[in-house]
Amino acid sequence: MVEKESKNRRLSINEWESEAGGVIEKKAFDYIARGSGEESTLRANREAFSQYQISHRVLRDVSKVDTSLKLLGHTLPSPVLFAPIGVQAIAHPEGELASSRAAASMDLPFITSTVSSYSMEEVAAQMGETPRWFQLYYAGNELVAESMIKRAESAGYSAIVLTVDTPIMGFRESDQINNYSPIGEGIGSGNYFSDPVFQNLLGKPISEDKESALKKQLELFENPSLTWEAIDRIRQYTDLPILLKGVVHPEDAKLALQYKVDGLVVSNHGGRQLDHGVATLDVLEEICNVVDGEIPVLIDSGIRRGGDIFKALALGASAVLIGRPFMYGLALDGEEGARKAVQQILKEFEVSMALAGTATIGDIKKTFLVRKK
Ligand code: FNR
Repeated sequence: MVEKESKNRRLSINEWESEAGGVIEKKAFDYIARGSGEESTLRANREAFSQYQISHRVLRDVSKVDTSLKLLGHTLPSPVLFAPIGVQAIAHPEGELASSRAAASMDLPFITSTVSSYSMEEVAAQMGETPRWFQLYYAGNELVAESMIKRAESAGYSAIVLTVDTPIMGFRESDQINNYSPIGEGIGSGNYFSDPVFQNLLGKPISEDKESALKKQLELFENPSLTWEAIDRIRQYTDLPILLKGVVHPEDAKLALQYKVDGLVVSNHGGRQLDHGVATLDVLEEICNVVDGEIPVLIDSGIRRGGDIFKALALGASAVLIGRPFMYGLALDGEEGARKAVQQILKEFEVSMALAGTATIGDIKKTFLVRKK
């Protein structure tokens, strides 16, 4: 009873975060919550949102607020997707199975990570007709990369999200201190270990020699020599739309258009990769100016409040990805927790829209924002 009351009181994502810290192992919590280096990028992401204030309009009919939108052929109830997060079994034994069901229950797209604890097919099976995208860490073996892309298409994924801010892993001090690597422990092997092409590279079946299989996965997982021509290779394997996740530089947005990608996710990996990196919100407008409406521009890193979504859309984003908040919910209450954490942010967004005087997503414009001096 007491526990239930405390769950009902949990409102801001900060509370979800601190409560999650009390229920999962410290090393797992640190892996989720912390950033790279001295966490300058992690902090900058949040600070960037507080640099803008919303200047509301009055006496506009907001009796019905419509948060729906169209994105890459899907109609979504809200401009929110579940960010690709690997190794989700560190937060809850059901991992991606629970969080993808939470996404599906709200008709929100779920992006399955290459290093998910469960395979992309197992995740897809939770989601019915709800859109799902596959996040690709382009494997250092072409045949394995090809296999994963084709498996995603067969399992009903409707886009490939190529993550490009991770040529190598960021330097995360807390993981070093905790001597912790969930991928290294095999918690992110759902897609590799189930892949027939990957299995063929191994001397022995995984059931007989898991250690060598894991070693092979780690060898293929980081692919620092990847370049722009990877996009052409993905296109040889699939007709699915391709999004690039991890772009922050306007020159890269220009190149992305030249390579005809279908969408961008402005992201710095939630402050887990390059430390002293730019905050995503600070570069969003310039990137949207470069893209000039040709392709959707999504954003993530630091979105914790409904007002943050409003600000991102006002600066030109089509939609946002939410990462850690649903992981805190997952850690606390599995599927229900992941759903409630995201619902909390969605509710705030709807209230922000109404109070700002915007009844539809199309009404949200930069003229509603004031930048602090
Ligand atoms: C991530 N992120 C991530 N991104 C990706 O492309 N593939 C992945 O496997 C992962 N794994 C992952 C694990 C954990 C524990 C976290 C916290 C993040 C980055 C993620 O997709 C997203 O960019 C950030 O989480 C967004 O920032 P917020 O919402 O967490 O601040």
